[in-house]
Amino acid sequence: MKPLQVGLIGFGTVGKGTWDVLRRNESEIARRAGRPIRIAWIGTRTPERARAAVDGAPGVQLTHDAFVVARQPDVDIVCELIGGIEPARSLVLDAIAHGKHVVTANKALLAHHGNEIFAAAHARGVMVAFEAAVAGGVPIIKALREGLTANRIEWIAGIINGTSNFILSRMRETGASFDTVLQEAQARGYAEADPTFDVEGIDAAHKLAIMSAIAFGVPMQFDKAYAEGITKLTREDLRHAEELGYRIKLLGITRRAAKGIELRVHPTLIPTKRLIANVEGAMNAVLVKGDAVGSTLYYGAGAGAEPTASAVIADLVDVTRMHTSDPEHRVPHLAFQPDQLTDLPFLPMGDVETSYYLRMRVDDRPGVLADITRILADREISIDAMIQKEPSEGEDQTDIILLTHKSVERQVDDAIARIEALATVRGKVVRIRLEDLS
Ligand code: HSE
Repeated sequence: MKPLQVGLIGFGTVGKGTWDVLRRNESEIARRAGRPIRIAWIGTRTPERARAAVDGAPGVQLTHDAFVVARQPDVDIVCELIGGIEPARSLVLDAIAHGKHVVTANKALLAHHGNEIFAAAHARGVMVAFEAAVAGGVPIIKALREGLTANRIEWIAGIINGTSNFILSRMRETGASFDTVLQEAQARGYAEADPTFDVEGIDAAHKLAIMSAIAFGVPMQFDKAYAEGITKLTREDLRHAEELGYRIKLLGITRRAAKGIELRVHPTLIPTKRLIANVEGAMNAVLVKGDAVGSTLYYGAGAGAEPTASAVIADLVDVTRMHTSDPEHRVPHLAFQPDQLTDLPFLPMGDVETSYYLRMRVDDRPGVLADITRILADREISIDAMIQKEPSEGEDQTDIILLTHKSVERQVDDAIARIEALATVRGKVVRIRLEDLS
């Protein structure tokens, strides 16, 4: 049968990985897809590198100009692997306008412009597949969109940034500071020279916004996401959390709450006994709670050449299988039929309810704890556990650590401001959210 022709845009780590895996597993992939899948065009800024990699493979054309690939008459699927917003957005829209199906690994593009892209694809009757955009090789989009389709999804909690997870794991294992471990992560190639997107929770928020839309049948709304990264976490707090039976992870959480959807990325204490708390290093894991199935956990490599290629090629196979089908009978881009998306509101952070770890440095004298607990009680914040550290030799200050029951974030913010204003409390209160995930 005639091969399906792919135009690859971008020949970096993932592009090269896609080439390698497609070649290596060519016949097995063709047996699954029902016809061969062939890379016919490669658009790249470094054609020399691509030329060396394709090593004279017959019929592969190389170009500097990615728009040539997006518009090529003999290309059926455009595979966008360059990342970033522009020119990726223009290329994807151009490919759609030329009747091409699109496979993309670009979470930033989808988080910001997914609604526009899906609308264009729907109008043109083409598919846009994006398994590789979330959690690399872990087939979480497939699971959410198809495997769990019977369920009312209640919440998703994911470790979806490998760089941050690597840094937190190393900080905990070695007792080193964030800055020291970040340097190590950069030296080992886990963290970019500019790690802002990874360590400030933005990359995770992109991925979470995509999962949230699929889980709850709402348009993509990255602008509603709250993102707080790991840069301010100290080794002391990681250690205190361990002593209390918790591990701190950068978690992306989206939940269907009574008044709307929560969409938030932040460092989170998780009970150490949960499987997801034990996901270490650069690995990803996503925990999904459905009303029928209960909790399901998806784990694997969230980045890297061949794990990401695994997801890209899964999409190529899906598109190949569905390519001749009636567009109305394909799996909808966001799992729900496009005219069935709802306008459930996203909750501002102040309305979110969760538990909290609060650490404060206080003068070690009578009445201090009573003042603090009164402030909490006045705001309906109930204490679940408390430890007071022994003051160091000759010191008259100590650390108090409180874990709260579920409380409203706005009340907790207010309580923290009051506590920090007490004359007996020194410096800022450290606040880290806590999720039981049961
Ligand atoms: N930079 C991401 C991470 C991988 O550290 O997980 C690509 O999404």
